[in-house]
Formats: sequence, structure tokens, C-alpha cells
Amino acid sequence: MAADIEIRPIAGALGAELHGVDLARDMDDNTTFAAIHQALLDHCVIFFRDQEITPEQQLGFARRFGDIHLHPYIAGMPDYPEIIEILKTETDTYNFGNDWHTDQMFAPKPAMATMLYAKEVPAAGGDTIFANMYKAYDALSDGMKAMLAGVKTVAAGDSNKNKAGGRSRRERYAANGNVAMKEPVDQPAEVEHPLIRTHPETGRKSLYIGSHTQRFAGMKDEESDGIIKYLRRHAIRPEFTCRFRWDVGSLALWDNRCVQHYAINDYHGHRRRAHRITIRGDTPF
Ligand code: SIN
Repeated sequence: MAADIEIRPIAGALGAELHGVDLARDMDDNTTFAAIHQALLDHCVIFFRDQEITPEQQLGFARRFGDIHLHPYIAGMPDYPEIIEILKTETDTYNFGNDWHTDQMFAPKPAMATMLYAKEVPAAGGDTIFANMYKAYDALSDGMKAMLAGVKTVAAGDSNKNKAGGRSRRERYAANGNVAMKEPVDQPAEVEHPLIRTHPETGRKSLYIGSHTQRFAGMKDEESDGIIKYLRRHAIRPEFTCRFRWDVGSLALWDNRCVQHYAINDYHGHRRRAHRITIRGDTPF
């Protein structure tokens, strides 16, 4: 039987909680899945609370959206290689995902969506912020839209530009232990993507930018740095965002084709643990 879903937007810009769904019970129901899928397209990021699902059930739910995407250098859990465990312990200072980004933008086919299921959360803090890149695009002036049409960006997972504290992203992950690392799968050091991408399902245009973005293709750093800096700041205006407060059993699913996100690092001395699955995407156009 189809779940009786109540959709409660959590902000004006994007994000909705879906109530009335028990994923363990409902995920095989096609009508329920169609409503969940539509809610993702309509709200860009959706949230479920109080879910009790096994890793197999989380994988089963993710597979309804597509094949699982394997990270090129972060290892999955020993028994579930398709699920990455993200952990910040009481003694860690760094947390995973603490910059504005869209997942695996450094890959030729970045992840279409990401599913994060909270297993342990701090009493306060550790929220995640999301920003709506359709709105970021729509709010640009016609002149800016015309200037940026056709521009390609160069994205990289690891580069001098996204170093922090003298360490590359991969080095930070390895040193901090928030995720397990594996021998990197061969992948290009840099990839090109359209700066303005079209969502393959909604047909809407969005600004495709994030911490992996290095420069405009065919330009020098100093020629495009200023515009990229402006677009980064513009993209995360508070009017384009929502903020999610996690509880144990919360599950978020965001659409990387139209959303950037940022994991807030404001809970030092406390634990936060979550199971993360990414779903394979297509070549952005
Ligand atoms: C991520 O960037 O995928 C992690 C987000 C989070 O932990 O809230």
C-alpha cells in the first residue's frame, strides 16, 4: 500500500521533510517511490526522520534511484564497500564535507545524488546547510547569464587551490581519519564541466560551482579567479539555503545536479557518525 506522505518544506529556497514514510516498510512500493522521487526533483533535498533501516535497506533504497557510485579514493565499510562511514570523534578537529561543494565534481560523471543516514549525532551542532543552485542561476542578471553561457570550468579533487593548512583534501582525509582511505582508482587529475548545467530530469538550468572548481577552461587563474570568487559567494546567499538539524535515524537525500552543501564543524568534543551512499550520475551538459 502506498504511504500517506506529508511534505513539509523546511525553508523557502529548498528542502522538505517527508513524513508518513517508513523506508523499511515502504521502499518497495512503486507509488511511494514515485512520490519520493518527485519530491526530490521539486525540493532538491529531502529528509526523513526516525528511520530504522539496515545497511542492506539503505542500499536497496539508494538503488531505486540508480547504480551506486564508488568513490575513487575513499573506502567503503568492510562489509558494505558501497557505504562510506563518516565519523568525527570526540578528539577529532576536522570533519568531512566542511566546505561548499557538490559531490564528486572532480569526476567526469559526478554523483547524481547523495544519501546520508545519521547513526550518532551530537546533542547540538553538526547541522548540514544546503544551497539551491537553480535559484543561484535564476538570480543572476541577464548580462551575467549571457556572459557565462557556454563557459566550461576545470574541476579537480586535489590541487594547490583546495589545499587547507598546507594539505590536499586527500591528505587531510587520510590524516584526520574521518573516512577510510583506499588505493586511488585511476582518474583524470582535472575534468571540464559546464558552468551552467541543465538538469536532465527537470530541464532547469543551475549554477554548477563548488570547492572543486579551479578556473574557467582556456583561461589563466588570474583571469577567472575574480568571477569564480563572486559566483561562489553569490551561490550561498542565505536566501538560497536551508539548514538541517540531524537526529539519530534522520536520512537526507540531496540532488548534486542542483545543490551544494556544507557540513558545519561546530561540535568539537562530541561524536557524529553517518552512513553515506552516492548514486551514479551522467556527464553534465
Ligand atoms: C558530505 O559532504 O557528504 C557530508 C555531509 C555531512 O556530513 O553533513
